[in-house]
Amino acid sequence: MTSDSADILIVLGTRPEIIKLAPVIRVLERDPSLSYRILHTGQHYDDELSGAFFRDLDLPKPDERLEIGSTTQGQQTANGIVGIEAEITEHDPSAVVALGDTNAVLSAALATSKTNADFVHLEAGIRSFDRTMPEEVNRVLADAVADIAFAPTETAVENLSNEAVPGRVYHFGNTIVDACLKHTDIAAKRSDVLSDLQVAPREYIVATIHRPHNTDAADRLKAIVTALDTQEFPVFLPAHPRTSKAITGLEVTLDGSLTVLDPLDYLDFLQLLDKARAVVTDSGGIQEEASILEVPCLTVRPNTERPETIDAGVNELVEPSTLAASLSDLFADDDKIASMTGHPDLYGTGETATRIVEVLAERFGSK
Ligand code: UD1
Ligand code: UDP
Repeated sequence: MTSDSADILIVLGTRPEIIKLAPVIRVLERDPSLSYRILHTGQHYDDELSGAFFRDLDLPKPDERLEIGSTTQGQQTANGIVGIEAEITEHDPSAVVALGDTNAVLSAALATSKTNADFVHLEAGIRSFDRTMPEEVNRVLADAVADIAFAPTETAVENLSNEAVPGRVYHFGNTIVDACLKHTDIAAKRSDVLSDLQVAPREYIVATIHRPHNTDAADRLKAIVTALDTQEFPVFLPAHPRTSKAITGLEVTLDGSLTVLDPLDYLDFLQLLDKARAVVTDSGGIQEEASILEVPCLTVRPNTERPETIDAGVNELVEPSTLAASLSDLFADDDKIASMTGHPDLYGTGETATRIVEVLAERFGSK
């Protein structure tokens, strides 16, 4: 139950945080020893990036909403700090929980670190070692003040150890597995996305691109969409608003294999990904989901904070200029496709949320 005064404050602000925190919220719902509230920072505000996920994942509405919106990095973070601090002052939670690496996480970490509440960081310790990404800065700073750090992988535990973070570290996997396993069958039953798009399983590619490094550099974006438009198989790109705006501004004719779609709701996206021949992405969460659903993944980035997917051979880093050749190589070789699957449990087996809430109940619950 959510309540006016709460043991736990959950802070979220964007699509992936809603998806990955949903399993935690579900377990909290069933735990009578912990009360909780949800604060939405409003970083994502369009229904297709926010409200649709609360509905698909059957989540309670947020108790508090900030209206951070689309501004600069500094304004998003600063306004988040002010709003989260006010919420902590009013409702006095014992712990503030945030997941991942968005500006909502940095705001939650900094606001909480100057109060009596403990800061709890989920998906702690992952690193790209690329400080040009705002997300990497957010991760490092959040972990530096976390009282409890839930690391998804051994590598993340090692990274936290190398940084000598002060908080207590637990290694329980990633809640993305819980979300993915719970919803894949539901998506298969409820989603009509394949028939709507008139495609058969394994006969198409799914793509998502939203990192500023790709969207805000016209030459990179042009090379990516051109590669996706010249494929033997249809390519579906459900586009983040940042990406659709950037594609509209490109001087390029796209009349081949690429279809740009609006963002999909979670069940449609999961179904589309689950049945794809391959996925091309720069998303963090989709690199994880591709490994779980055993779909070969090409990541259009120079680095990744998910190195276990590369080590396991289920994900490859590619450059825009080599994307078309990488896709051709992949589809020319069935053995290569098969070799890029077979590691669905890099992030655990689906009990991460339960184990996280057990720790929270032990530390913050009223027995
Ligand atoms: C943010 C996160 C990123 C995460 C992504 C998930 C940071 C620094 N970035 O990036 O780590 O991977 O969310 O999708 O926290 N927009 C809309 N409608 C919305 C929200 C945004 O149209 O509801 C458009 C606006 O033009 C905005 C742009 O998207 O300027 C970028 O939004 P923003 O929240 O700043 O960053 P994301 O790219 O979404
Ligand atoms: N996703 C979705 N619809 C889409 C694209 C992505 O539901 O059209 C989901 C996807 O299943 C994954 C999450 O959004 O769980 C990833 O979010 P995003 O790529 O925006 O952020 P990142 O993971 O890179 O932070």
